[in-house]
Amino acid sequence: MRGLRGDLPDKGAVACAPGKIILLGEHAVVYDRPGIATAVSVLSRVSVEPSDEFVLVNYGKALRISLDDIEEMGREIDEVVARRDFETLRIIARDRNVAPLYVVYVVSRSSRLLPAKIVIETEVRKGMGSSASVFSALALAYARYAGAEVSGEEVSAAAYAGDVVAHGGTPSGIDNTVVTQGGYIRFRRSEGFRRISAPPLPLVVVDSGEEASTAEMVALVRAERGRDPEGFEERMNRLASVVEAAERSLVSGNLSDLGRLMLEYYEILSTFGISTEALDEIVKTALSLGALGAKPTGAWGGGVCVVLPRDAEDGRRLAEEMREMGFDAFSVTAGVEGVRLCSG
Ligand code: MEV
Repeated sequence: MRGLRGDLPDKGAVACAPGKIILLGEHAVVYDRPGIATAVSVLSRVSVEPSDEFVLVNYGKALRISLDDIEEMGREIDEVVARRDFETLRIIARDRNVAPLYVVYVVSRSSRLLPAKIVIETEVRKGMGSSASVFSALALAYARYAGAEVSGEEVSAAAYAGDVVAHGGTPSGIDNTVVTQGGYIRFRRSEGFRRISAPPLPLVVVDSGEEASTAEMVALVRAERGRDPEGFEERMNRLASVVEAAERSLVSGNLSDLGRLMLEYYEILSTFGISTEALDEIVKTALSLGALGAKPTGAWGGGVCVVLPRDAEDGRRLAEEMREMGFDAFSVTAGVEGVRLCSG
């Protein structure tokens, strides 16, 4: 048992973190092509308040747990992750409180494990980096509460540790990097992450309401490589060229070029058979309403589409018209700041 538990802080802390969207590059990044992801203005908010006991309020339900149990669970997960036993990890993580408790445990290693009342709230949807968003806000708020100075890298690392548990494996690190750093991030497996300096961008997100399995979609794309290795490489290279050109349009603020490139990416990636009628309908409708570009994002096979309007006002109009037509659409800003302390 760690010491200093009696010495409770008298002040709480609140942190907010954005969601994430892959603008371009999904699936191609698996084959070492570049991708661009961005932080978007849907927020997770985590408050950590002084309390005599440890209480976690997650999905609106309160869990009371002892500090000893958190430490025991944390040590067990450390061991399971160290031996890469992801099957056991997935079983442990079926309880959705386990991953956030593990984040607290990870943060407490460089500070103190203290009782607290933690309240997690998020408007970030699945497929938009919701777990990394919650975990980065939790890591920052808990560290601040415990009196520790944490760097952005440490917050990102704690969010990644939580994502390993929540996803039952080792994700790419895109989500935790984008939600902690904010802005736009270019990533490539062999090169790592690099910030792109570009102005904020209005976007409309449209949720198909369909659940997609990332593993199944990745397998569908991989099957194409077996069928036609040369054609596969050629398509991957075309996707990479689109992403390179899109980075230039993003930096120069040329939205009509960016929209055209989003559509080109959509057309090329659609040839892998991972789009759905609902996703195609969203793209078609957005374009008919005057959008500059539109495409599914994430793994495809369902999930959300990202739509590029002419400006923020056009984005609000597009989202409203799509909602009137029965779509689950909302406007957001891309390129926003990463995790930060926020007020009450
Ligand atoms: C899923 O959000 C993005 C994919 O490229 C898979 C991955 O990068 O791990 C489809």
